[in-house]
Amino acid sequence: MTDTTPPPNQAEPATEPADSPSTEGATAFSQVMSGFRMDNKVVVLTGASSGLGRRFAQILTQAGATVVVAARRAERLDELVNELGRGLAVPCDIAADQAPEDLIAAAITEYGQVDVVVNNAGISRVVPAIDDTIDGFRHELNIDLVAPYEVARHAARWMIENRRPGSIVNIGSVLGHNGGGRLKTPGYAAAKGGLHNLTRELASQWARKGIRVNAIAPGWFETEMNGGMFDSDGGMNYINTNTPMGRPGQLEELDGAMLLLASDAAAYITGHILFVDGGWTAI
Ligand SMILES: NC(=O)c1ccc[n+]([C@@H]2O[C@H](COP(=O)([O-])OP(=O)(O)OC[C@H]3O[C@@H](n4cnc5c(N)ncnc54)[C@H](OP(=O)(O)O)[C@@H]3O)[C@@H](O)[C@H]2O)c1
Repeated sequence: MTDTTPPPNQAEPATEPADSPSTEGATAFSQVMSGFRMDNKVVVLTGASSGLGRRFAQILTQAGATVVVAARRAERLDELVNELGRGLAVPCDIAADQAPEDLIAAAITEYGQVDVVVNNAGISRVVPAIDDTIDGFRHELNIDLVAPYEVARHAARWMIENRRPGSIVNIGSVLGHNGGGRLKTPGYAAAKGGLHNLTRELASQWARKGIRVNAIAPGWFETEMNGGMFDSDGGMNYINTNTPMGRPGQLEELDGAMLLLASDAAAYITGHILFVDGGWTAI
């Protein structure tokens, strides 16, 4: 039998030499992980009073950011800011003419900067196109597409004038990529499809100004918006059979995508639509 005991005085060194590959690896790993930190960054996040937005506010704050949260339900925003321990609540209807400009101005007045925008506020109407009203369609486009454009433009103007880099994360949808099949959402599909390509357009216009623009396109996550789908057998069947993973997502399964795109960890990523959908758009 071979004796593998090290001879006396030839034991393994206790630490790696400074330039060993594993030390380099440890340094690289720690640099990658620190890229996800959001310390000293101010994030403007719309649609924070429920669902995905509430979760994004929590995870971005945990990563070190200060989050300015917007939505119409003021009480919910106040409770959230209390829970987060810092941040600013800005109640508003984001589709109102002056609201996007006022929201960015509120962040700058309070904190002197805006580094990240998360365009998350949204509504979704289920209506067959043939029965839709043009006012309903326009209203949905105003909230889901026009307002994110205005919020992004006001933030980008400030970033460019002040020579500050920034990141804009738009919340799209798998329904901005594929038709909904049995689920009939013409306004939502148009708005989210528009938001996806607006993401690419703004990314290309602002890349040399240091502003990255990306989108997260979620599959199905249970929130107030789609509670009805989750409460019905037909809705769950639609979600489970059309999702290769055979299930909806859990809110925490969006955390990694948000932290990646919002933070410097995605320094060379722009114009990207990141699907977090259990494979919905893979088939
Ligand atoms: N859940 C999913 O499966 C899923 C999938 C794909 C994409 N998304 C997208 O994710 C985003 C968040 O949706 P969610 O699922 O978290 O739904 P949600 O719980 O209904 O949240 C929607 C948020 O948008 C806000 N909002 C709606 N209209 C507004 C307005 N006019 N002005 C300001 N804020 C407004 C709501 O706040 P107030 O009512 O207080 O104003 C709420 O905070 C949306 O863009 C949605 O399209 C969700």
